[in-house]
Amino acid sequence: MRLRLAIQKSGRLHDDSIKLLKECGIDISNGVNKLKAEASNFPVEVFFLRDDDIPQYVEDGVADIGFVGENVVYEKNKEVEVVEMLGYGKCRLSIAVGRNERYDSVQYLSKRRIATSYPVIVTDFLKKNNIDAEIHEISGSVEIAPGIGLADAICDIVSSGSTLFMNGLKEVETILKSEAVLIRNPLLKEEQLKILNKLLFRIQSVKKAKNNKYVLLNAPNENLEEIIGLLPGMKSPTVLPLAQAGWSSVHSVLNENDFWEIIEKLKEAGAQGILVVPIEKMIV
Ligand code: PRP
Ligand code: ZN
Repeated sequence: MRLRLAIQKSGRLHDDSIKLLKECGIDISNGVNKLKAEASNFPVEVFFLRDDDIPQYVEDGVADIGFVGENVVYEKNKEVEVVEMLGYGKCRLSIAVGRNERYDSVQYLSKRRIATSYPVIVTDFLKKNNIDAEIHEISGSVEIAPGIGLADAICDIVSSGSTLFMNGLKEVETILKSEAVLIRNPLLKEEQLKILNKLLFRIQSVKKAKNNKYVLLNAPNENLEEIIGLLPGMKSPTVLPLAQAGWSSVHSVLNENDFWEIIEKLKEAGAQGILVVPIEKMIV
């Protein structure tokens, strides 16, 4: 039995999806030009599909799970469950208008034409804001629509913002924020669930490792307690005596979010020779 996983064939999420599998220790013979590939060391089969089609395939049970953007999940509104945020593919779905347009509020959109590949989400947004506008659904290259006179505004994914910039557009409203998520068919068999749980365990370990750093430092013994107090550690920090009397080596794990703040405090408390090392996997 293999779990069938759908990922994007090419585009923004493809490389990071493959990278996540690799970090989970899952080797797939890279088959960008193929429709599917089997992992050699994990019971998973990978289907390469258009991201927009992934929710449908997962709902139909052609694939059991998928890595796809939340934006696509909301737009397609299929019977699938979001199981895990994957931490990559971060972007936002935004409204953009010509750079020189005067845009004061959403009222600008009233009676205008909006080009988008996200008609469901945009309709919802307009309804919530009581705006009557015309939606032009197009499936690709939405950003060129204003330039060729097809629309007054667009609603599309913005990641770095360079696509908008290069097309003379500016972002004026953010409708939703998105990142890659793992979705599943709601009716998986017991054996498939077992494989999914194994995969989730690996994904969570990789994600935790990315958010944390291993820190080693030298501490004067008289300040040891203060320094230990600053460090969370997985249980508590490891403390080893140094060859030089009066000093100890302290090892711990720090979360990325409060990393710099803690490092500063450690220095103030007399810590020296601070080494920061990336963590590959973190099992807690
Ligand atoms: C989005 C969007 C833009 C690009 C924006 O496409 O349609 O083309 O990303 O990125 P930027 O702000 O970094 O320039 P997406 O990857 O969602 O793929 P698809 O529409 O081709 O499925
Ligand atoms: Zn797409």
